[in-house]
Amino acid sequence: MNSTGPQPADAIEIRPATGDDAAALAKLSNELGYPTTPVRASERLDALVGSADNAVFVACLPVGPVVGWIHVFVALRVESDRFAELGGFVVSGPYRRGGLGRQLLAAAEAWAVTRRVRMLRVRSRVQRSDAKRFYEGLGFAVAKQQNVLDKPLATDD
Ligand SMILES: CC(C)(COP(=O)(O)OP(=O)(O)OC[C@H]1O[C@@H](n2cnc3c(N)ncnc32)[C@H](O)[C@@H]1OP(=O)(O)O)[C@@H](O)C(=O)NCCC(=O)NCCS
Repeated sequence: MNSTGPQPADAIEIRPATGDDAAALAKLSNELGYPTTPVRASERLDALVGSADNAVFVACLPVGPVVGWIHVFVALRVESDRFAELGGFVVSGPYRRGGLGRQLLAAAEAWAVTRRVRMLRVRSRVQRSDAKRFYEGLGFAVAKQQNVLDKPLATDD
């Protein structure tokens, strides 16, 4: 095993993201299927890190890069109690199946508990069958399936 290859899960640090992680988070976002630039990721990360209702955690090698991240937020609804939801979650391909996803999810859950929410939700594409098995193995159950519809809006900027 070398310093850039997969590491034992207990050698990995899980910590809150900082602004300095933006470039690494952008790179991993590409793996998640959401291409973005370090500059745009930095703008978004700054807003998230400054929000009490959002948290981003990263998984880092002892010496080396960020190899995974998770974003969790408190969702407010008129019709139901507040709950926590995962906004994004990815572990870099070579580091999967090594326990990092489990550790990142545990960090997100622990944060959600501090926000006194009673449920954690994730919306996952039906095509992500691997992720579904991961979640089901860690206590999630499918609650519903839904369409996601977008409409572009005109803005001044
Ligand atoms: C989903 C994802 C974050 C999981 O991260 P990971 O580091 O591979 O997960 P872990 O190694 O911590 O796995 C935790 C448990 O889930 C199981 N698991 C993980 N991937 C699995 C898979 N593809 N099939 C079945 N079980 C799986 C592991 O076996 C492990 O159980 P164990 O400890 O009993 O062996 C990662 O696969 C990923 O980034 N996928 C691509 C992006 C994605 O789909 N993100 C989720 C968007 S909703």
